[in-house]
Amino acid sequence: MGLIQELAGHPLTQQFQTLGLGTQVAIGFTTFIVLSVVLNVIGQLLPTNSNEPPLVFHWFPFIGSTVTYGMDPPTFFKENRAKFGDVFTFVLLGKKTTVAMGPSGNDFVLNGKLKDVCAEEIYTVLTTPVFGKDVVYDCPNAKLMEQKKFMKIALTTEAFRSYVPIISHEVTDYFKRCADFKGKSGVVDIPKRMAEITIFTASHALQGSIIRNKFDVSLAALYHDLDMGFTPVNFMLHWAPLPWNRKRDHAQRTVAKTYMDTIVERRAMGDADKELDMMKHLMNSTYKNGTKVPDHEVAHMMIALLMAGQHSSSSTSSWIMLRLAQYPHIMEELYQEQVKVLGADLPPLKYEDLAKLPLNQAIIKETLRLHAPIHSIMRAVKSPMPVPGTKYVIPTSHTLLAAPGVSASDPAYFPNPDAWDPHRWEVDSPNAPTIIRNAVVEDEEKIDYGYGLVSKGSASPYLPFGAGRHRCIGEHFANLQLQTIVAETVRHYKFRNVDGGNTLIGTDYASLFSRPLEPANIHYEERD
Ligand code: HEM
Repeated sequence: MGLIQELAGHPLTQQFQTLGLGTQVAIGFTTFIVLSVVLNVIGQLLPTNSNEPPLVFHWFPFIGSTVTYGMDPPTFFKENRAKFGDVFTFVLLGKKTTVAMGPSGNDFVLNGKLKDVCAEEIYTVLTTPVFGKDVVYDCPNAKLMEQKKFMKIALTTEAFRSYVPIISHEVTDYFKRCADFKGKSGVVDIPKRMAEITIFTASHALQGSIIRNKFDVSLAALYHDLDMGFTPVNFMLHWAPLPWNRKRDHAQRTVAKTYMDTIVERRAMGDADKELDMMKHLMNSTYKNGTKVPDHEVAHMMIALLMAGQHSSSSTSSWIMLRLAQYPHIMEELYQEQVKVLGADLPPLKYEDLAKLPLNQAIIKETLRLHAPIHSIMRAVKSPMPVPGTKYVIPTSHTLLAAPGVSASDPAYFPNPDAWDPHRWEVDSPNAPTIIRNAVVEDEEKIDYGYGLVSKGSASPYLPFGAGRHRCIGEHFANLQLQTIVAETVRHYKFRNVDGGNTLIGTDYASLFSRPLEPANIHYEERD
């Protein structure tokens, strides 16, 4: 009491009281910030628990390293790896986030046991309002594994065989229809066009022609609204009654209803429905406990599949086209590869043709090495996790983060790592990955997490499709889709940079999936 009276009577306090309210608030706020910065810095300078990984220095509590990480995650990872080694912690929006890099870091995070790591706890706030209830991260992990199994089983060779002509036709048709490709030559903002080509090809192949046709009329705009809910800011504001969240919720209900109506329509068609798409397969799938997959779950899985594939495949195809504009001679080599293997008349592409075009395949592999759309893969820590070979134990208050893109551009595995060189995937290339030169081409250790045998990937520095129980089930479809899009595009066009040089546009890390900054214009010229 005495102290308070003394402070109240202090000349500084009396002087403060004579100031206007605005000035008092400003001084109070500045004092609060300065004090919290000072306490935060002192906290970092004091000796810490030596079992925790080193912490990246930061001035402001809560914000921590969010800004430097968010602006350019790969550079942030590489700089801190040089300082601290493969395992370190940084503060991301108030949460201590431990990064584990290199092949063993990837293995530690991605192949973590179910009792130790959890993906749904991180992702559900973002994905459930967009996908809908009872699927993917809004259900127990065992149910997700069954759902992934249904999806994987649907992607048979027979289905793939039917997809190549569908995708080829969509691409050719798109080039004919699109106003941006009207002239013999011109300039086009390529990511926008690739986003459309991706959604038309994926929806047609995976969801059937009825759904594909609705993308011309109603679904495209609704998917755009759904997409607005899929932004990093929604990790915190997913619940807020904001305009974009209201649009997201309306779009989710409308899109789900469209799918459910289509399911009823297709059931009524019976045997007359001959398509081999994923939707049809899910409509006829049954869980291990004997429950048929309900229509609303089929609808929600359809949204999830299209959203998962759309961002990654559309970003990858945009990067491929930008790389081809950067190096037109590679585009020419791709064309010549098809002429040589398939004949000068270039007959319609077939599924079997894709395996005969190694450069066409390497384009995708090399682009994913340098431009993997998912730069950070996160998991909640459910029980304290000792990091093998170190003294560190990651507490449950931390989030774990894997960044497979870092090992994919590490000179220890990929000579001349920053060069985009599709020929490096040939065994005798001077830039061939050391894993290929040492003949350890594939990590052979296989494991079944409930959706079929997959390679654990624990020794691989190259994991653009992830590893472990959450590994991508869309890898083969994405490869088929991208290879077909590239093969068709080189048949139609020659690309180059607008200024004729060989620069490359930067990466936009502001959304959840990294992609080229826009506009990203390239020059096209029709082939004779
Ligand atoms: C999971 C990458 C295309 C469906 C993943 C993961 C990665 C990835 C890294 C692991 C995420 C994690 O561990 O948290 C990619 C890339 C693609 C692509 C680079 C294209 C170039 C697709 C496509 C589909 C798809 C076309 C659908 C047909 C899925 C699904 C999961 C997944 C269902 C599982 C999520 C889970 O189990 O938690 N993908 N993906 N992806 N992806 Fe893909």
